Amino acid sequence: MRVLIVGKGGREHAFAWKISRSPKVSRIYAAPGNPGMARHAACVDIGVDDVDALVEFARRERIDLTVVGPEDPLAGGLTDRFEAVGLRVFGPSKKAARIEADKDFALGLMHRYGIPTGRYRTFTDPDDARGSVADWGAPVVLKASGLAAGKGVLVCRTVDEALRAVDRVLVDREFGAAGEKLVLMEYLEGEEASITGFTDGEHVVCIVPSQDHKTIGEGDTGPNTGGMGAYAPAPVVTPEMQDSILKRVMLPTVKALAAEGRPYRGILYGGLIITENGPRVIEFNCRLGDPEAQVVLPLLKTDLVDIMEAVSEGTLKDLEIELDDRAATCVVLASGGYPGAYDTGYSISGLEEAETRDDVLVFHAGTARHGGTTVTDGGRVLGVTAVGENIRASVERAYEATGEIQFENAYFRRDIGHRALERAGN
Ligand code: AMP
Ligand code: GLY
Repeated sequence: MRVLIVGKGGREHAFAWKISRSPKVSRIYAAPGNPGMARHAACVDIGVDDVDALVEFARRERIDLTVVGPEDPLAGGLTDRFEAVGLRVFGPSKKAARIEADKDFALGLMHRYGIPTGRYRTFTDPDDARGSVADWGAPVVLKASGLAAGKGVLVCRTVDEALRAVDRVLVDREFGAAGEKLVLMEYLEGEEASITGFTDGEHVVCIVPSQDHKTIGEGDTGPNTGGMGAYAPAPVVTPEMQDSILKRVMLPTVKALAAEGRPYRGILYGGLIITENGPRVIEFNCRLGDPEAQVVLPLLKTDLVDIMEAVSEGTLKDLEIELDDRAATCVVLASGGYPGAYDTGYSISGLEEAETRDDVLVFHAGTARHGGTTVTDGGRVLGVTAVGENIRASVERAYEATGEIQFENAYFRRDIGHRALERAGN
């Protein structure tokens, strides 16, 4: 089989690594890919949003399966365009991807079908929004309804902060078109967890629950980032809870989407808060999380291509999916200054020393090749994943490997996995 992976980050490197292990696959391409992916794939210089060029490439190279990493091309209708010319894609249609691309729509769907989430209201008029903020009080969460590269969520601790947030979204238009609708959402208290489900539109299989670390600072402080690390399995989600999330959240959502003429095939990612009244959904994504991919894919024993084919053919219920019962931790190495301004172009040393350790995988997120060396080329530079017998062992192994890697101004959090480690037995 010939596979094309669309994307260039750590998640897509994890896809490339996992897909390269499939005996069915003879050739992998990545558009545009990155230097880490280049070890498994031929990188072609086509951007993720250049759908015309991607379709043309896939036809010319007789690609059997295209795997889409990021949300933007899915929300833009890449799958529909490929399928219209008979090309197979792993990733939902534009109509189904609305579950991520429009938070107002997602919350409306959840409320219509009784899927556990929080109270919400949607506004286009700033005065109406201000009125509700004053009524609801704080803490409260304000969200630009559209896609804002993970930056459109404003958790407000005070009413003043929430009033300023209304202005940022609806008056100053800080998030552009993504902020045409503003969603006011009840603040939910509890630990977060990410649920990754594969679905063929009817059946859903959840792989290991994971936990991301969104803020830049240790102890979960400071501004949000794309994700500074992750681990799996997240013990906050017990096996019984995962089963209940499957039955009360994932399956009903897939059924609701189908009932509304939006059949969903691909990965459905549930972002949940485990409140004292049980799990509540704060968002759905139409794709795998990043850096969650870097910990959940290494714990998947089944051939990913078999799963993707079953999703596409509607035969997921006949496939036995096997998971590794160990744990994985990913530590993200970032450029100092991220998520604000940072410099790039620094050469990276110690990659080989880190990678040759047992049960360690180094995923590239923001790197480039310059005159034979690998250099930094983004905010999040690398994700260092280690697998171990339990969370503690995987955390220790991930930090030992991270310690081998050096570049100017490197920054990483030293407390990845802290919530799991604070629980007994880990
Ligand atoms: P999202 O992009 O929707 O995952 O939101 C980014 C972050 O904002 C989440 O990881 C949470 O930490 C926080 N957040 C979003 N919605 C809520 C909510 N309703 N209650 C509490 N925190 C939230
Ligand atoms: N790590 C969260 C996300 O990918 O949206």
